[in-house]
Amino acid sequence: MTDLRTRVRKAVLPAAGLGTRFLPATKAQPKEMLPVVDKPLIQYAVEECLASGIENIIIVTGRGKNAIEDHFDAAPELERFLEEKGKRELAEQVRRISNMIQFSYTRQKEPLGLGHAVLCARELVGDEPFAVLLGDVIIDGAVPATRQLAEVFEATGAGVIAVQEVPREQTRLYGIVDAVAEKNSRWGERLLRIRTLVEKPAPEQAPSTLGVTGRYVLPPEIFDCIERTGRGALGEIQLTDALVLLAQEKGLYALVVEGTTYDAGDKLGFLKATVEFGLKNPEFGEAFRDYLRSLKL
Ligand code: UTP
Repeated sequence: MTDLRTRVRKAVLPAAGLGTRFLPATKAQPKEMLPVVDKPLIQYAVEECLASGIENIIIVTGRGKNAIEDHFDAAPELERFLEEKGKRELAEQVRRISNMIQFSYTRQKEPLGLGHAVLCARELVGDEPFAVLLGDVIIDGAVPATRQLAEVFEATGAGVIAVQEVPREQTRLYGIVDAVAEKNSRWGERLLRIRTLVEKPAPEQAPSTLGVTGRYVLPPEIFDCIERTGRGALGEIQLTDALVLLAQEKGLYALVVEGTTYDAGDKLGFLKATVEFGLKNPEFGEAFRDYLRSLKL
């Protein structure tokens, strides 16, 4: 049985960052709107929410991010145009996007960090647990990553964050957890209790090689933890620092999620996602595979 204190109904998608790793493409358009094959990045996260039982999505936007709101809004002229041209299937696809789920928006006036972006959603989340999905990360797997985390939250009542093994030489790119395997859990060695987290450590200082990969399910107490967090690395209010407080005060789990993660906010990660989703496309995947094979690499 799950009740309102453990049922995860809401998700926050922070999308107010500047996307500097993807300049110049992100100079005048949000990186969350860059398309992988035929869908903007953020739509993958929205579809993951839908498949995970989320009912309400809160998107944190900022300056220059109007395209995100427009994308998830109704587009009656476009739908009418497509229908008049007999392109009923396309019209239906366009309509489906705005009817998918209930959206709310809030703005982060300045990109003061991921922790600050999450705090901007406090009023809309209220006093209940919620998921956080980074809109530029795609996790592709049989069971959506957010669903995997929600199941841990529903069973334990404690916050849980997604982690995956990363190469030791790349620990500087991730938040890294210091954690011990939870005994006798139904997730076996995949569920760990977090002692602490370190943001982007050097390989020789990393407490493990389990990197945080952009999916979280958190209790509302995280908001107080963020408020008590000062500006950390790069003068930003980091979510990692607030998670350290939460781990100490309320307990926090790490789950090694099943699925393939693409950090598509990074150019190489984006290319990998594009190639792999292209290969899986039912319409032209085969033709694309033939094309790749024909390249003299
Ligand atoms: P990133 O660090 O990947 O995004 O933050 P960024 O700051 O936009 O990108 P780079 O590093 O400069 O290339 C992860 C997520 O958190 C959001 C981003 O939009 C992204 O989806 N974010 C980050 C905010 O909403 N506000 C912030 O102040 C920082």
